[in-house]
Amino acid sequence: MKIDFANLQYQYQLYKTEIDEAIHAVLDKSNYIMGDEVRTLEENLQHFTGVKHAITCSSGTDALLLAMMALDIKPDDEIITTPFTFIATAETIAFLGAKPIFVDIDEKTYNIDASKIEAKITEKTKAIMPVSLYGQPADMEAIQAIADKYNLKVIVDGAQSFGSIFNGKRDSNLGDISTTSFFPAKPLGCFGDGGAVFTNDDDLAEKMKSLRVHGQSKRYHHQYIGMGGRMDTMQCAIVDVKLKHYEKDLALRQEVAGKYTKVLKDKDLIPPFIAENATSVWAQYSVRVQNRDDVQAYLKEQGIPTAVHYPMPLHLQEAFTYLGYTKGDFPVSELISNEIISLPMNPYVTDDEINYIVGNL
Ligand SMILES: Cc1ncc(COP(=O)(O)O)c(C=O)c1O
Repeated sequence: MKIDFANLQYQYQLYKTEIDEAIHAVLDKSNYIMGDEVRTLEENLQHFTGVKHAITCSSGTDALLLAMMALDIKPDDEIITTPFTFIATAETIAFLGAKPIFVDIDEKTYNIDASKIEAKITEKTKAIMPVSLYGQPADMEAIQAIADKYNLKVIVDGAQSFGSIFNGKRDSNLGDISTTSFFPAKPLGCFGDGGAVFTNDDDLAEKMKSLRVHGQSKRYHHQYIGMGGRMDTMQCAIVDVKLKHYEKDLALRQEVAGKYTKVLKDKDLIPPFIAENATSVWAQYSVRVQNRDDVQAYLKEQGIPTAVHYPMPLHLQEAFTYLGYTKGDFPVSELISNEIISLPMNPYVTDDEINYIVGNL
């Protein structure tokens, strides 16, 4: 059996007629930058999430930059985040000259451990940036309470979690600004790079709209130092088609995850844990095994692709040497990064494939 990890080709075939029509509509109009489809997608994202403002942008990375720029994050400001994430989370903080302050993760959810945040707050702390890893929001109730107590902003890196729910709300409603990524392999992906920022705050929304077009207030008048951060019309048209099917895709992902969890029961590994007040959109289905490299090599031989998200926590990355962290500083992140392995996950994994994967595992 040969299994596809994200099965993007299958998804394209499934929605081909609608997607091709949407692409051709853009080609016919040739409105490649900020065409009508951009606003249409943003309105549909607002409707889906219940958030007041959805603003598309060039990637999940640029979404984080836009969020921090809108919140006036400056050099030497400190932002508390997790070391167990994709580099973009902390890279964008550093890119703005601010300092990522890492806090270890919870051993069950792999998200930032809210009980360890308060100890890291200093006079320089401006914001907390939780990541909704693998598709599940962090403990946002506890995080928001800490932010309120110390007057800090909350930016949710929801690159992996678009559509997930925490305490009855879509994740895009969490924090002051929530972001997402439409990278192709994300649960809601485009055919290139794309992303979005979400906020219920009118002023932040206006500022982010301006920042994404070079801080422009009107044509060739620039109020802020901004960036070229637009998502192009074609990508918006594609995401808009996929958004129409997203609820169904999420239900299928949920089903696939449920089946994995069921057949993995009583096996000698640790399956994912989803908190009672949260849902996951299963960007990844990741389990812990002790002999990961052997497991990965064996599965590969059997035609089963796997991935490791992520093999090295950010505090041990060469790029962050200047922060002065060393091995042992975040033991839970280090432990999980040695054991975690992601299994094929997409809405279309069949029962036979699940049995084959788990059998071999
Ligand atoms: C947690 C996290 N943050 C940020 C990003 C960046 O998103 P993008 O690849 O769209 O720039 C990703 C994407 O992989 C991610 O997983």
